[in-house]
Amino acid sequence: MKFNKKVEDVLNKQINAEFWSSFLYLSMSSWFETKGLKGFANWMRVQYLEETTHAIKLTDYIIARGGQVKLAALDKVPLEWKSITDSFEETYKHECKVTEMISNCYEVAFAERDHATANMLQWFINEQTEEEQNVINIIDQLKLIGENGQAIYLLDKELATRVFVDATKTAV
Ligand code: FEO
Repeated sequence: MKFNKKVEDVLNKQINAEFWSSFLYLSMSSWFETKGLKGFANWMRVQYLEETTHAIKLTDYIIARGGQVKLAALDKVPLEWKSITDSFEETYKHECKVTEMISNCYEVAFAERDHATANMLQWFINEQTEEEQNVINIIDQLKLIGENGQAIYLLDKELATRVFVDATKTAV
């Protein structure tokens, strides 16, 4: 079946959003580095890497379906945040927006009777649920401990353990 144009367009927009997300998290990671919070910086760097592989996973899919990948310019990302908690609240807000976009991709694919794409997007739907939950857990911990030195030091150590999972190597 020929690759549907509307599906191709919405997936291309999603690629742009995933790359923008990766830039956002690399920016956050760099901001944490300047504050000496290596663990937070690591968590955000892993997030950056994972978002990049989300974009590549979609790129690979469009190519596999015989579609055209159309990369577009990225809007500027923020460079600093009011506090650690603020950066994670912004992350959560952003991920909710991405979840909405993925749902929209799914709806377009379904409406166009492109079940293969809807099926592929199921991976992203699950991934978004996991991502939102991970960020909520960190926000909850931050609320509990406040931004005081010793507790932040311990959380920083915990976040230093996060390891990168390459989305292009996981099954659809
Ligand atoms: Fe790939 Fe977190 O959106």
